[in-house]
Amino acid sequence: MITALVPGSFDPPTKGHLDVVERCAALFDEVVVAVVHNPAKTPLFTADERVELLEQCTAAWPNVRAASFEGLLVEFAKEVGATTVVKGLRAVTDFEFEIQMSQMNRYLSGDVVSLFVATKPEYGYLSSSLVKEVARLGGSVDGLVPGPVASALKERLQ
Ligand code: PNS
Repeated sequence: MITALVPGSFDPPTKGHLDVVERCAALFDEVVVAVVHNPAKTPLFTADERVELLEQCTAAWPNVRAASFEGLLVEFAKEVGATTVVKGLRAVTDFEFEIQMSQMNRYLSGDVVSLFVATKPEYGYLSSSLVKEVARLGGSVDGLVPGPVASALKERLQ
């Protein structure tokens, strides 16, 4: 039984994130989408709201669940019995920071292995920050985020 953790800010989840989660759902027995709760930041959606959105967006994959965590990722991985951490890579610019984080996680815990999944090319430019900016400025984000997220953005920003 291999459990994979897909961690992130997910403020909000995008179609790029969901593409990575879908890949993981097909590869692993269990997938936990882990929403970071960082009290030092002021996200648009609370950690609970992000978990709820992810639950709605991943309902079609029975081996996927969402949860939030505070503190070290490797500690949360231990808590849920995950041995693998999966992150999506859009471009080489992502790789530079992701490799740094994965090596830090390896220093903190030799039990956790980091794997990287290339995102779909059509989502290569997609980020939660840009989605929020476009939505705030009245642009359409319907093609960039799942339906429940598009509705939540409209409600939050109207
Ligand atoms: O969506 P993001 O912003 O790329 O996600 C970053 C995340 C949540 C994976 C990263 O910030 C994280 O792992 N935070 C938990 C704190 C931690 O464990 N830090 C030390 C290892 S880098």
